[in-house]
Amino acid sequence: MREGISADLLAWYDQSARALPWRIGPHDKSTRPDPYRIWLSEVMLQQTTVAAVKEYYTRFTTLWPDVMALARADDADVMAQWAGLGYYARARNLLACARAVAANGGQFPSDEAGLRALPGIGPYTAAAIAAIAYNHPAVVMDGNVERVMARIFAVQTPLPQAKPQLYDLAASQTPLLRAGDYAQSVMDLGATICTPRSPACGICPLMQHCAARAAGIAETLPRKQPKPEKPTRAGQVWVVQRALDGSFLLEQRPEKGLLGGMLAFPSSGWDGSIAPAPAPLPWRALGSVRHTFTHFHLNLEVLFSDAPCNPQRGSFAPLDPARLPTLMRKAYHLYEAHLPD
Ligand code: ADE
Repeated sequence: MREGISADLLAWYDQSARALPWRIGPHDKSTRPDPYRIWLSEVMLQQTTVAAVKEYYTRFTTLWPDVMALARADDADVMAQWAGLGYYARARNLLACARAVAANGGQFPSDEAGLRALPGIGPYTAAAIAAIAYNHPAVVMDGNVERVMARIFAVQTPLPQAKPQLYDLAASQTPLLRAGDYAQSVMDLGATICTPRSPACGICPLMQHCAARAAGIAETLPRKQPKPEKPTRAGQVWVVQRALDGSFLLEQRPEKGLLGGMLAFPSSGWDGSIAPAPAPLPWRALGSVRHTFTHFHLNLEVLFSDAPCNPQRGSFAPLDPARLPTLMRKAYHLYEAHLPD
């Protein structure tokens, strides 16, 4: 079976590989993948869709075409360019990793252990870089691979208990040759055919191998242990505009914690902090915005004032809303919606 599955997947990939900005296609023999670009794309793709990543990837590689350039970048510029992608610890680790690689001469390690020693690189990302950038037969495990393996072998054990079994199955299928193309072929299959809902089994290159298809249970796999429901938290955000020049009261959030290191309006409550408004002002309630984090939903009440004040936190600065994380951008849009026409 080992031969069959990877060979069929690679043959399908040769026909159907998606064109992605960071990808060297299976027929392009003139270039080798650049480990810097593979690393950057894989960090961006953690928890984030290909569609959302594309424009960020292009912007980052235009601004910082190699690891030395990124290592020299200003922290605030990198955080601002990351704004909207979410999971901001990734951006802080991105800079720390670029600087660690730059300090070591600018070469990314090629083995998984060396890669995993770098900030922000876990088992998945280390394996993906080793496979895609260096063609090492690393076992690349993400949600797509888990789903494909669970279906081919009709694994009925629910996640997360099934993880070790799925890892062993993935390892048993990983070919020694064309490891990078193989890793990407499983990702493409999981994204385009072996999708979580309504898989397109009728056009699947692995249909002959798939036990779940044979049993008519592909869509029900992988089984999942039900997760506890997310709680809803509440908080307040204070949007203060200085009438004089139109600038806004802004602060940089602490490095550690939610939206760490990002530019933000002062806020309280939702992130565990208890703080009063930045100044005693007459507030106008604009309504609330809703946002979902990994572990909770949030209802954030947006309060606005343009009365003169001497705030206890933050400072007034011109605002480019593109530099705000999505939650704060939602608050800004609510402010905008209340502007007179
Ligand atoms: N998802 C995560 N990494 C990917 C890659 N290199 N290509 C396509 N989808 C991915």
